[in-house]
Amino acid sequence: MSNTLTLPRSVEWNETYITLLDQQKLPLETVFIELKTLSDVWDSITSLKVRGAPAIGITAAFGLALAAQNYEVTSIQEFKDRLQKDRDYLASSRPTAVNLFWALDRMVRSISKAISVNEAKTTLTHEAIRIQVEDEAVCRQIGEYALSLFKNKDKVLTICNAGSIATARYGTALAPFHLAKERNIELQVFASETRPVLQGSRLTAWELKQSGVDVTLITDNMAAHTIAAKGINAVIVGADRITANGDTANKIGTYGLALLAKAFNIPFYVAAPISTFDVSLQSGREIPIEERHEDEVTHLNGQRIAPEGIKVFNPAFDVTPNELITAIITEQGILYNGTYTKSIEKLFNG
Ligand code: MRU
Repeated sequence: MSNTLTLPRSVEWNETYITLLDQQKLPLETVFIELKTLSDVWDSITSLKVRGAPAIGITAAFGLALAAQNYEVTSIQEFKDRLQKDRDYLASSRPTAVNLFWALDRMVRSISKAISVNEAKTTLTHEAIRIQVEDEAVCRQIGEYALSLFKNKDKVLTICNAGSIATARYGTALAPFHLAKERNIELQVFASETRPVLQGSRLTAWELKQSGVDVTLITDNMAAHTIAAKGINAVIVGADRITANGDTANKIGTYGLALLAKAFNIPFYVAAPISTFDVSLQSGREIPIEERHEDEVTHLNGQRIAPEGIKVFNPAFDVTPNELITAIITEQGILYNGTYTKSIEKLFNG
């Protein structure tokens, strides 16, 4: 089977720096930047140069590995204390995607048994690379399961960018479209532009077009009409955090699409790796929802589009209640509505 995915990687490890595809510059320019310090990494996450739950986690893991290479300490305890401090700093970059905390905590845990500073430095680099390599395999597997839910010529609606550039490769919600392309299965994708930051129009439209996937861009308020007029067969989205009962936080606008899918009686799928589950939370009400700067709403391309001094509410995510989700597609298989609490518990406790 041919592997035709030629998209650039969002994050790359280069021993003394991290190369990042600057997603704020897409689609007009494909610019790669070099992250050399912990604050470069923090800034790239906060300012959405890298975004998408798994890609944020991978970047933070490399950030921690990078910072640790420069610790000038001799005792392993001092090393661990520094690492914990840097972990906490990177953890403050964005609050909703649990993959950030998952990756950082996995990095910290990886050196729990290290007995020397050199050993700890090497282990951290290896662990970050492993997180990235595993994510690629995980996303491909999610793509396989997701593709099994679609038929040739299906029309599928998505929001935001849960694609290759939001992960190590392939993406989650967009993985089935990349795999379908490899296999000459025809799927038609409708990408919702995703105001206010436009991940749908800037990133998903760009990514799928680059891959030769049949993609049509709509604005967010066209969703209901498009489902009716174009005969959309399903909605598929990514996730930033899934709680123990299957409630799912994802990009603002996702909840609305889930309600529409229910009204039109079409399936609403969430595609996400196990690293996006947070079973320490019982329901979506406990998920911290990031609120971003009002400029994202009052300005477009640096140009003011709302009156000075207007009050703004700018939540970056919403929570879709589990009852609206037809299935959650993970690398371990597909979980179905009605049994989420049980099947999620089984994923974690066997
Ligand atoms: O604010 P963003 O662009 O980081 O939001 C991203 C999303 O909501 C994605 O759907 C989610 O992180 C999954 S990415 C595979």
